[in-house]
Amino acid sequence: MTIQSAIPFVLAAVALIGLGFGLVAGQRWLGGRAHEAERLRRFYDAFSCGIIVQDAGGRVLHANQAARDLLGTTDVVMAGSPGADHRVVHEDGSSAEGDAHPLSQARRTGLPVRGVVHGVSTGTPLERWCLVDAVPVFDPATGVLVEAVASLTDITERRRAETALLNTTDTLSALIQASPLAILAFDPVGKVTTWSAAAEQLFGWRASEVVGRLLPAIAPDQQRTFREHHLAVLQGQSFIDLEVHWQRRDGKPVILSLALAPLYGGLSEVRGVMVLAADLTERKKLESQLRQSQKMEAVGQLAGGVAHDFNNLLTAIIGYTSLLLKASPTGQQREDLLEIDRAAARATELTQQLLAFSRRQMLQPTLLDLNAVLSDTMRMMGRLLGEHIELAILPDSGLGMVRADRGQIEQVIINLAVNARDAMEGGGKLILETRNVTLDRDYASHHPGAVEGEFVMLAVTDSGIGMSADIQARIFEPFFTTKERGKGTGLGLSTAYGIIKQSGGTIYVYSEPDRGTTFKIYLPRVMAARSPIILPAPLKPASVRGAETVLVVEDEEGVRSLTCRVLRTYGYTVLEAENGGEALLIAEQHAAPIHILLTDVVLPRMSGRKLAERLVRASSKLRVLYMSGYTDGSIVNHGALEPGTSFIQKPFTPEGLTQKLREVLDSPDASVPPA
Ligand SMILES: Nc1ncnc2c1ncn2[C@@H]1O[C@H](COP(=O)(O)OP(=O)(O)OP(=O)(O)O)[C@@H](O)[C@H]1O
Ligand SMILES: [Mg+2]
Repeated sequence: MTIQSAIPFVLAAVALIGLGFGLVAGQRWLGGRAHEAERLRRFYDAFSCGIIVQDAGGRVLHANQAARDLLGTTDVVMAGSPGADHRVVHEDGSSAEGDAHPLSQARRTGLPVRGVVHGVSTGTPLERWCLVDAVPVFDPATGVLVEAVASLTDITERRRAETALLNTTDTLSALIQASPLAILAFDPVGKVTTWSAAAEQLFGWRASEVVGRLLPAIAPDQQRTFREHHLAVLQGQSFIDLEVHWQRRDGKPVILSLALAPLYGGLSEVRGVMVLAADLTERKKLESQLRQSQKMEAVGQLAGGVAHDFNNLLTAIIGYTSLLLKASPTGQQREDLLEIDRAAARATELTQQLLAFSRRQMLQPTLLDLNAVLSDTMRMMGRLLGEHIELAILPDSGLGMVRADRGQIEQVIINLAVNARDAMEGGGKLILETRNVTLDRDYASHHPGAVEGEFVMLAVTDSGIGMSADIQARIFEPFFTTKERGKGTGLGLSTAYGIIKQSGGTIYVYSEPDRGTTFKIYLPRVMAARSPIILPAPLKPASVRGAETVLVVEDEEGVRSLTCRVLRTYGYTVLEAENGGEALLIAEQHAAPIHILLTDVVLPRMSGRKLAERLVRASSKLRVLYMSGYTDGSIVNHGALEPGTSFIQKPFTPEGLTQKLREVLDSPDASVPPA
């Protein structure tokens, strides 16, 4: 029985006893009134709740010790009595004295007054709270009201606890609402009982739509697992870092990390399941993009290394084949040599693509108007696309300039357009669009490899077959193709990727199966005049022969002996060195002038660049021609040659080499690398 429910019983008992005492005492022991009053006082004092008895006129007959303690008074001048030294108020602060007091009301109306809450103060502020019940007492014989009895229960502590609880609840619910983690709770059946603001944001359902229902965010194939965890938590288990794949209201999947814990009730029984959910979707995406770009980096390194070695081998193959062909073979022999030459040319093409992918190819960047490149390229492509494809070019009229290698950018556009065509065998639409865009920090933070800044965007969109996420994850890898044998090598996109990256840009794909594909390329916008720089075309030398002295430095035996042999055939005096040290020694000992240094860029110990610097210091007239299978940063900056540097890309043909050599020897300004 609670205190409140006990009060009427106590009151009734007190009233009856009081009445009994009053009547009996009055009749039997008139002479012993003083004695009887003392007995009553002791009797009332035995109660732990305050008791006040008034006569019909409102005079206080008794106030037990608990009542006096509660009201902070020592005498019997009580609530409702003039001159009381305490103040009694209702919960709303209004006075509960005089007629407003429950005792007065009980006397006035002859009806009991129950559960009135009073604040009692002997000063300010309020000090105690009590629950007051008052009952009228009638003379059973006459039915006339003789007394009114009030009981006062001190509820100060209870109110304090209630307020504290209320504050805690408020704090908790503010916390739940403010939490950046989604907070949800379920009852034992699995129905939602709590749904925080972050949960609304994360899943897209409002609290009013899910509370009281089974959670709609759990996809059917995930429900069993969740039920198992839910059951385990109801049995007292907890879980952290539980990764689940749920879904949002719009059907989009979310990857979540859940923490589950039991919610205990007052009797330590589990009354529900508390869930904290952190959204991992974005992080997972970024992680996988990062893994992807690391993989591309590693594959790029590998491809670059392979291309480098292949270029040396190909230089020898192409060179010797060319020498053999020069000897004018006939019949089958000539055919066989031409076959070798063709195969080597195809291998050269492949290695070039690998080099492009590994961002190690030599670029000749100029200021470009992407709109012009786009329309020229598409005109060039002409019928390659086919009648069944509708082409739309949407150029931005105020498009900024970019700095890139025109030939390479054309290659990228062609690769993308050909892929789009292949994706639309039954016909469709190809849209090429350019636009100035500003990538902000938010964009950059969600796209690995992207940086903030001003860019020129080229978007290539087709309405073709699209790609699954699995395919998208691999398209930039070299040799990844879904086309049948002989139809694709899988190098188109990897080349595009390498070219764009090497040009300081980024390339992204957006696609869904059967919904088409968009590739977006961002190249840094160059804040410069719109006039593109035209590179002067090198003059074609009249003769590729020469009588000058060439110092050839190449560590690859096959390439070195071929190069020397070719140069001697063309009339040159050739000095031969395997590395930088040997070259310095030869130069020192050679009395006659050396006209040109032909050196590999990548050499063991001393790089070609260092060697050239030292030799030019000793003889300022010396010209330098570098040769390499790939760029390694020592003579290039982001794939572009440093000014005043001449370079020949391996593999080269004997004709290509002798022509380039003459160009450098005949050029008016010596190709002296800056010191
Ligand atoms: N626009 C597109 N629509 C659908 N799938 C595409 C699209 N572009 C590329 N792909 C997919 O990406 C794969 C790789 O493309 P990539 O251009 O690198 O190689 P490829 O076209 O197969 O061969 P290659 O370009 O060397 O001839 C393709 O095989 C195809 O599966
Ligand atoms: Mg392709």
